[in-house]
Amino acid sequence: GNYTGALRPQVHFSPPQGFMNDPNGMFVDANGTWHLYYQYNPTGVVAGNQHWGHATSDDLYHWVNQPIALFPPEERVYVFSGSAVVDANNTSGFFPDQDNGVVAIFTLARYYEDGSGGPQTQNIAYSRDGGYTFEYYSENPVIDSTSSHFRDPKVVWYEDHWVLVAAYAQEFVVGIFTSPDLKDWTFASNFTQHGLLGAQYECPNLVKMPVRDASGAVIDEKYVMTISIQPGAPLGGSVTEYFLGDFNGTHFTPTDAVTRLTDFAKDNYAAQFFYGVPDGQNQINLGWASNWQYTQKVPTGNLEGWRSTTTAPRVNYITEAPRIGLVMVDEIYDLSPILDNKLKETTCDGVGTVALDYSSVESGALYIEVNVTNINTTLLTEYSTLNISFASPASGDILQSGFYFSGDTPFFINRGGIKGFDNIFFTDKFSVADVYSSGSRDTLASWSTKAIIDRSIFEVFVDRGIHAGTVVFYPSQPLTTLNLASRLPEGTSVSVNIWSLKSAWA
Ligand code: FRU
Repeated sequence: GNYTGALRPQVHFSPPQGFMNDPNGMFVDANGTWHLYYQYNPTGVVAGNQHWGHATSDDLYHWVNQPIALFPPEERVYVFSGSAVVDANNTSGFFPDQDNGVVAIFTLARYYEDGSGGPQTQNIAYSRDGGYTFEYYSENPVIDSTSSHFRDPKVVWYEDHWVLVAAYAQEFVVGIFTSPDLKDWTFASNFTQHGLLGAQYECPNLVKMPVRDASGAVIDEKYVMTISIQPGAPLGGSVTEYFLGDFNGTHFTPTDAVTRLTDFAKDNYAAQFFYGVPDGQNQINLGWASNWQYTQKVPTGNLEGWRSTTTAPRVNYITEAPRIGLVMVDEIYDLSPILDNKLKETTCDGVGTVALDYSSVESGALYIEVNVTNINTTLLTEYSTLNISFASPASGDILQSGFYFSGDTPFFINRGGIKGFDNIFFTDKFSVADVYSSGSRDTLASWSTKAIIDRSIFEVFVDRGIHAGTVVFYPSQPLTTLNLASRLPEGTSVSVNIWSLKSAWA
């Protein structure tokens, strides 16, 4: 693959060429190698002809492309989304002499000659070389069906058995199954018609994570059920929602009737949690940074021969957010492997600006941290703002983001000033009401955000990742300048730190 294109992310995974959608089969092995598989069309820049592409990493930023892991087993039968587990105890019987056997569990989707969809069934393949090459199990499918919309199995281990969740997409049902050996599956329960339905449920995940208090101490644990819905997301196209609850090995019981979204923008879909993260620790996920509404039209296909990037790796746990209650935190994973030079380290009292020309940063990628403390809310007005924008002086392309500190205090992202992609569904503006990290609006005393920009993707993590926003954008010329403008009351302390990021593909 050629990773030098002006729109190619330098610290994110994107396929060598061709079309990528959902991340699949993600696991971390006993040596600490992270495996990412993904929905892959190696022969075109639109969806179809689904294989499982494969890449590995030691740090979740530097990826090595590996040979394709799963090929369509027959003509017009495609390998759709799914998951993988390390069968260290040889429950499956595939691995008599090793503890690093890998079993992939995925949907095979059959199509008829006239293009209509046949049955979608759940199947397995095993790998005796740690996840690089796979053999199809001879007695597939392991869960048969006559439905043409039953897919995306995700497997986890629960105490003494395997648990699989898969979507009956058009019935808005997540089916839960159990198995001792990954081959024989028993229906356990259904999780039906919860939250936003859209037109289909896809890519469910069920995962346990710690609940942490404000100091970070673990005070409990809970399960999270994520469901990706499309089309018909509130902002259009595809989006992922989640439910907090308890799981007893067969049934998921939501804590409340609240539907929460994993992202406040439009480009984070079908995220999957890595199998193999030690029990009790934070979970780690990657999403597909795109949206079915326009993913097959974005300009990277024609200009550079590839489409779609993953999100940056994110760390997940549950915490109690002031005013809005329990939420899943989605924060950027340890960036140190790619952190380069500190380009700015500034503090100002209320009013100030930071101007940075980063045209000499070869990756074009930056990491930004802004911390605002000592906010006197009685002095805030409708003009109290903190804006961060990125621009191309050559072409006038501009990406804007920032925070309005009064009113309903939203954080916003606006890609409307980006000129390289004209599409009716590529809507401009995304915002989230902030959660007042240290109390109600009247007592707001501090606010923080972290952001990463990488040529054609921008991700922000507001208030320690209580809210995350993921936006792709396609400038007509590379963005090379950053401008930050703080217009806050005197006495407010604003601290800004900016680093360049090292290309993981150079
Ligand atoms: C989600 C999805 C899955 C399916 C895969 C096919 O984006 O539609 O439901 O398995 O993509 O590529």
